[in-house]
Amino acid sequence: MIPFLDIQAVTALHADEIAAAVDNVVRSGWYLKGRATAVFEEAYAMFIGTSHCVGCANGLDALTLILKGYMELGVMAPGDEVIVPANTFIASVLAVTRCGLTPVFVEPSVETSLIDESLIEAVITPRTRAVMIVHLYGRSAWTEHISDICRRHGLKLIEDNAQAHGAIAPNTSKRTGSLGDAAGHSFYPAKNLGALGDAGAVTTDDDALADVVRRLGNYGMEPKYHCDLQGINSRIDEVQAAVLSVKLRHLNEDNDRRRAIADIYSEMLPPHLASWDPNSSFLTANSSSVFHVFPIFTEGRDDLQRYLLSEGVETNIHYPIPPHRQRCFPQFNHLVLPVTERLAATELSLPISPALSPSDARIVAEKVLKWLEVKG
Ligand SMILES: Cc1ncc(COP(=O)(O)O)c(C=O)c1O
Repeated sequence: MIPFLDIQAVTALHADEIAAAVDNVVRSGWYLKGRATAVFEEAYAMFIGTSHCVGCANGLDALTLILKGYMELGVMAPGDEVIVPANTFIASVLAVTRCGLTPVFVEPSVETSLIDESLIEAVITPRTRAVMIVHLYGRSAWTEHISDICRRHGLKLIEDNAQAHGAIAPNTSKRTGSLGDAAGHSFYPAKNLGALGDAGAVTTDDDALADVVRRLGNYGMEPKYHCDLQGINSRIDEVQAAVLSVKLRHLNEDNDRRRAIADIYSEMLPPHLASWDPNSSFLTANSSSVFHVFPIFTEGRDDLQRYLLSEGVETNIHYPIPPHRQRCFPQFNHLVLPVTERLAATELSLPISPALSPSDARIVAEKVLKWLEVKG
């Protein structure tokens, strides 16, 4: 069996260092808001290239805290609009609705599956306050044009960097997470930089936002037992921070391992699987990717998934139901977003991780080729 993701094997890559880091925290007797958190926050801010990193409990909270922070700072108010990509994990949208803000969906580009920059300006209204870009699959969604739109319209540019730790935006030397006004990061175990449980962070160069996010994540308290804001409890714990410091030191090398797997898939598979763009190529679709996911797109996706499973290859779908079609969002169910819906019906994620062996990746690609051959 080739699993979609063998997390045990991923942890085993750095097991001794991780165990020592956890042991240190256990022995320290200090489990929250301590030295391990401060060390990780400083290292991650440096890695991303921002002046602040504020740890929190998970990626959904990171995005929520950014939006709540802007609300506290008077930048946005309930009912204001935030432009979001229609093709994303539901958490990007939940962060917006959780704050009483209104998500406005924008279709993805067919080539990259990321927000289509050419459609953003048309949906800006007097109530728009921010554009959220999501670096989905490990691909940078940032473009100079999107930054320019935000500048011209006075909008905040928020990055959802849950899936692209370490990616560098094309034609820049800047990492995703440092390209907009603020970014939310998830360190869910399966992510490129994954903890041994839930964790997240906000990165920003904005001193006022960093300060309010830090307070909001700690009940709104500052100093202790003085609450000027109604906050929540969303903190990174010392064990996760210590684990993440270890894994951050290996992130570039782990991303290189992912790239090596992606190179095998890109070389072995026909380019028409890269996207629905007739000029498809894995190279263009993935030019900036750190390969959190290796997506392919094909009619008969469910059949391919069943076939691969019967051949001992586990795959995944990112994502089978787009946010606007979810039952929890009846107010958006009427929306017709054909590109997003087509991606949801045809996307299949092949196994990829720093622990997957190149020989297993070749087996996966051979089985996909075999299915294509039989299918004609
Ligand atoms: C694009 C995206 N945004 C946000 C999140 C939310 O992160 P978390 O699971 O840490 O809350 C995730 C991952 O789960 C994600 O993939």
